[in-house]
Amino acid sequence: MKHTFSAPPLLDIIQSATEPIITIDERQRIVMFNPAAERVFLCLADDTIGAHLDTLIPARFRTAHARHVDRFKLTGISERQMGLGGPLWGLRSNGEEFPMEASISQTKTEAGIFLSIFLRDITERQRVDQALRASRDELTRLSNALLHVREQEKKHIARELHDDLGQTLTALTMELSQLEAGFAPDDHDMRARVRAMRRLIKKTFASLRRIASDLRPVMLDDLGLAAAVEWLVANFVSRYGIDVEAQIDIGPAEPGKPVATTLFRVVQEALTNIAKHAQATKVQLRLRCTESACELTVQDNGVGAAPESLAKKLPLSLGLQGIRERVRLLNGEVTIHTRKKGGFRLHAQMPAQPPESSWEAA
Ligand SMILES: Nc1ncnc2c1ncn2[C@@H]1O[C@H](COP(=O)(O)OP(=O)(O)OP(=O)(O)O)[C@@H](O)[C@H]1O
Ligand SMILES: [Mg+2]
Repeated sequence: MKHTFSAPPLLDIIQSATEPIITIDERQRIVMFNPAAERVFLCLADDTIGAHLDTLIPARFRTAHARHVDRFKLTGISERQMGLGGPLWGLRSNGEEFPMEASISQTKTEAGIFLSIFLRDITERQRVDQALRASRDELTRLSNALLHVREQEKKHIARELHDDLGQTLTALTMELSQLEAGFAPDDHDMRARVRAMRRLIKKTFASLRRIASDLRPVMLDDLGLAAAVEWLVANFVSRYGIDVEAQIDIGPAEPGKPVATTLFRVVQEALTNIAKHAQATKVQLRLRCTESACELTVQDNGVGAAPESLAKKLPLSLGLQGIRERVRLLNGEVTIHTRKKGGFRLHAQMPAQPPESSWEAA
């Protein structure tokens, strides 16, 4: 059996559409204005039909708009998105302007060419977009502030460790010398104890210096990024016995301070991760800075990680996520290449100078 379908009259569909639809004739006079258009433009079809399309457009866009519509008519194309160069603006009858998206289509009839404009009021969407952008900016500011506080705090702790505890240890050494002076020359037992205590103090000194440097290497401030990274590498090699081939090429211009600190932290985290997770025997480190950009690659030949397990771990772990965030704040990018048994490569690149809003490392 054959079904017959009957469609409602076209005008009924247009009248009940939730999107505003306006039809104009060749002279750009409005010939059809549906109820949705009435709601958006805040005017009645009865008052609008017969008026020029210009009444719905802010004055400053009228000339350009009329030209576009004419050109569209000449192309003979049946449909096109309007305003591809940016948002279009409509004018409500109360004088309020609103952003809109529109497409235009033309129909040729015996009575002439008619253009229909299908539009959408995007005020709400723009408002949401703006709110989203504002909240993203807010988050960036917050991250910047947090990083600043963290770096300051590390610097503070490093200084306290060095100055306060360091001085106490020095005082202790002097006290020991005085104590030793009081012992009889043949009191070998007590003298041996004092020597043992001195060794302990020396070890504590070394740990203290190492911890303070890990927190914030004085070198980064005093000798620059290349020396600080070399120091990290040398430390890593002597601590873990893993071979590192490092190529460090910092041009004549030292990158901005937050950039240098960030690169230092990235190398620090990458090497710590290798010691913790990789079971590697070889590491390649390349750091190159030009006047405009810095690029870092740290690659190991260790066990790597399966992308699925990494995807599961990343949201919870702070190391790589922290690095990503730091680099992102400097308008840079971190990429990771790894697979099970295939080593781990971390690549970071960023502009050599931080954006103006960036946190201060100093
Ligand atoms: N060089 C590497 N070789 C193999 N796996 C690695 C390597 N670096 C990182 N991973 C994997 O990526 C995961 C995430 O690393 P990330 O540094 O973010 O966290 P973490 O080192 O586990 O903890 P932390 O927050 O202390 O840094 C690690 O748990 C590890 O499974
Ligand atoms: Mg880590």
